[in-house]
Amino acid sequence: MASVVAHDAPASAAPLASDVIVRTEGLIKRFGARIAVDGLNLEVRRGDVFALLGPNGAGKTTTLRMLLGLNWPTAGSIQIFGANMADGASRQTALRRIGSVVEQPTFYPYLNAIENLSGVALFAGLRQGAVTRERIRWTLETVGLAPFAGDAYRKYSLGMKQRLGVAAALLTDPDLVILDEPTNGLDPAGITEMRGLIGALRDRGVTVILSSHLLHEAQQVCTRVAVLRSGRLVAQGAVSDLLSEGRGVLFGFATEDGAYRAAQTLREANLPWAPRGSYVRADSGSWTPPGGWMLLVSAPHERAAELNAMLTRADLPPAEVRHYEISLEQYFLTLTGALDSGTMGAVAPAYQLESAPNTQGGPA
Ligand SMILES: Nc1ncnc2c1ncn2[C@@H]1O[C@H](COP(=O)(O)OP(=O)(O)OP(=O)(O)O)[C@@H](O)[C@H]1O
Ligand SMILES: [Mg+2]
Repeated sequence: MASVVAHDAPASAAPLASDVIVRTEGLIKRFGARIAVDGLNLEVRRGDVFALLGPNGAGKTTTLRMLLGLNWPTAGSIQIFGANMADGASRQTALRRIGSVVEQPTFYPYLNAIENLSGVALFAGLRQGAVTRERIRWTLETVGLAPFAGDAYRKYSLGMKQRLGVAAALLTDPDLVILDEPTNGLDPAGITEMRGLIGALRDRGVTVILSSHLLHEAQQVCTRVAVLRSGRLVAQGAVSDLLSEGRGVLFGFATEDGAYRAAQTLREANLPWAPRGSYVRADSGSWTPPGGWMLLVSAPHERAAELNAMLTRADLPPAEVRHYEISLEQYFLTLTGALDSGTMGAVAPAYQLESAPNTQGGPA
């Protein structure tokens, strides 16, 4: 991994009132009759590696472009570093603290990395001279391209090209870096390198917002995620919270009605340690009660007997009780509609106590 050394980042231009770096409220983008982003409330905090997740067409790129002022919102507001992005002067101040790779960056094929970055620096208004030269050297080292700094761009692999794009985004020493699908088209080695680079940015205190349709990738490097489906937020929260959504005690019932009544019983019991229930269709190959749904209750495994006794008292004895963990992948696929509630592996909400910490952004 590239070492992250050299000069420290300059102190932030303006102190923030809070740790929230980006906040969108009711953000909407329409293209004619098509609604690409539909009422998005996002919150990105200082130091987050924040992933916008969702399938093709979910509205990820459109959202990132709006953050950068490349698309104008149809409605709603964006605040970055406390600045209202609808206001021209504060937008310019905020944008100076942001580096991004949203469009495929264009570099000159016959120039090497240093020459290409010198061009970008000039364009970004950085003064030519020793400080900028040092800055270029540092960004190349950070993205792991220092050994290839003198090679022509056209000789770079796709992964190296992507990393040069990130280097260009880092030239102005941004506090926030926005990357659209940074691992798109990369081979597994390239993906690992990009993940390492994002980790290095995070370690350096840079806040990162990226988009991806690969949940697995987000799980490895991100602190918080927002899941989009058709422009709407279906979940937002810490990766660990989302993971705990799918962890709990699984009850099998011979009838769908049994599962339904068990969910109602637990909701009415109002147990703070069992705040949520979901119906789950078994993964193919695993045990499933004949014809029935299963109810997954988010509760510590050691509470299984207690829950079982409660359901039995309510005349709803489960056919089977087990500890269970759905994968985040499965959860994500359900949230994004890739699995409808009738398919194996799908999860559908059964109950949620009002007091429960809510990672759901809205109705799925
Ligand atoms: N300039 C545009 N004009 C018209 N429709 C657009 C435009 N840009 C995006 N859209 C539409 O808005 C929706 C969201 O697109 P967007 O590119 O934001 O999705 P995405 O999540 O980035 O998808 P992908 O994973 O394919 O990159 C899509 O239906 C898309 O066709
Ligand atoms: Mg996109």
